[in-house]
Amino acid sequence: MKPIAFITGATGGIGSSIAQYFSELGYDLILHTRRKKAELETFQNAHPDTHVWVLEADLTDRDATLRALKKVLHDVPKIDVFIHNAGLKIDGPVETLDFADYDAVMDVSVNSLVALLTVIAPLMKASQFGRIMAISSGIGYQGRAENTSYATAKSALNGLISSLAKELGPFNITVNAVAPGLIPTEMTAYYNDDQVERYRQTVPLRRLATPLDIAKACGFFASSAADFISGQTLFVNGGTQTH
Ligand SMILES: NC(=O)c1ccc[n+]([C@@H]2O[C@H](COP(=O)([O-])OP(=O)(O)OC[C@H]3O[C@@H](n4cnc5c(N)ncnc54)[C@H](OP(=O)(O)O)[C@@H]3O)[C@@H](O)[C@H]2O)c1
Repeated sequence: MKPIAFITGATGGIGSSIAQYFSELGYDLILHTRRKKAELETFQNAHPDTHVWVLEADLTDRDATLRALKKVLHDVPKIDVFIHNAGLKIDGPVETLDFADYDAVMDVSVNSLVALLTVIAPLMKASQFGRIMAISSGIGYQGRAENTSYATAKSALNGLISSLAKELGPFNITVNAVAPGLIPTEMTAYYNDDQVERYRQTVPLRRLATPLDIAKACGFFASSAADFISGQTLFVNGGTQTH
């Protein structure tokens, strides 16, 4: 039986690349989307050798998300790799913060991960194997002006990753994060070309990350090369930010 990877936000700029890469690595896939189910059907048609189960859910709706996951799990025997990639960025000056937006950012990045794990962690414990990853952000570590919701959400992932690594380690489950630098996707479309170019010039490797760079980092954490690595954040940013 092929290994199975579950990827949230699999129709986003980075998530679609992770899905493509894990298909190439030989995984069957549970692919989550909020609103682009047709794209996942196209993905399935283009990858006939990869079994794709589609999970459609708005991650701000915890009950509906768990119902959708449990429905998919009727047909799926196990989850080997879980990559929580979905994310949402709505920000501005702190005094204009809309708490509905703040809650949505926290729900998509952090709270839904915890909710999904209430179902996925027992499955992984039962099979004594699991590789869990969250896509974090450099902003969660260094902060960014007018990014209150996003920085808080990504920073919260640190504590979560560290705690889960300690809790799930005894079951041969690793928990890590990948923290990208700026990548042009729908999420970052508000940056104009000049801003992107100015950022690129600050990157020691003098290029932006690509979604494939992030997919490869996830592939590393899923591989046997990372069997003894847990509770860590891998910064994939060309050397911009070091820890
Ligand atoms: N791009 C960057 O520069 C950058 C840098 C650091 C970290 N990241 C992180 O990388 C991850 C992927 O981001 P991206 O750049 O690929 O952004 P993106 O293209 O905007 O993709 C975001 C994904 O999250 C899903 N999503 C958003 N709100 C949701 C909700 N309420 N319920 C369910 N799903 C929801 C979207 O679903 P739909 O496709 O259905 O809309 C989409 O698949 C995020 O966690 C982001 O924070 C990105």
